[in-house]
Amino acid sequence: MRVLEVGCGEGHQAIYLANKGMIVHAVDSSQKAIKYAIENAKTSRADVEFEVKGHHELDRMKGKFDFIFDWRFLQEITDEDMRERFFISINRLLGPKGKYLSVEFSGDSDFMGNGKLRTSSVGIKIYFATLEESKRIFGKYFRIIEARHITLPQKPNMNILANYMLCERI
Ligand SMILES: C[S@@+](CC[C@H](N)C(=O)[O-])C[C@H]1O[C@@H](n2cnc3c(N)ncnc32)[C@H](O)[C@@H]1O
Repeated sequence: MRVLEVGCGEGHQAIYLANKGMIVHAVDSSQKAIKYAIENAKTSRADVEFEVKGHHELDRMKGKFDFIFDWRFLQEITDEDMRERFFISINRLLGPKGKYLSVEFSGDSDFMGNGKLRTSSVGIKIYFATLEESKRIFGKYFRIIEARHITLPQKPNMNILANYMLCERI
């Protein structure tokens, strides 16, 4: 199975899947994150193709994937047009019957305040879609297989409500 992770951070999920036998390509716009990810993969003896790449570059990316996922990343795209452009890129990169999983912070919680755009403690703008909004937007681009809330362990003793969206290419 060919897998693409977007916003992979230090690569833990990508490494896990590669060690399960998947062919994994993982991208993140942060050079520092990718440097750590490469070191982590070496330590775990995982074969992952890591690349410094921003989500806005995905529309020029080649290849097809059976599974694409973003984990705690999508909320970082705060512009609604960019979010839709991102979904169009994901759709193009999915092979036939390809699956897309997205897990982002949910606007149904009051984590970091209220409303769609909230500011983190370090001053980063974050987008909070409610589950209803996610169903409406994802439904424009994908067939939704499962849409529900989950709780994400964010720090020790701190769980955050998230939207879990498992979809299939139409
Ligand atoms: C909250 S972290 C999540 C990292 C990883 N998925 C995890 O769960 O540990 C969000 C990641 O998105 C990356 N990111 C932010 N803006 C991005 C962009 N425009 N394109 C690609 N990655 C981006 C950040 O560098 C960061 O590594």
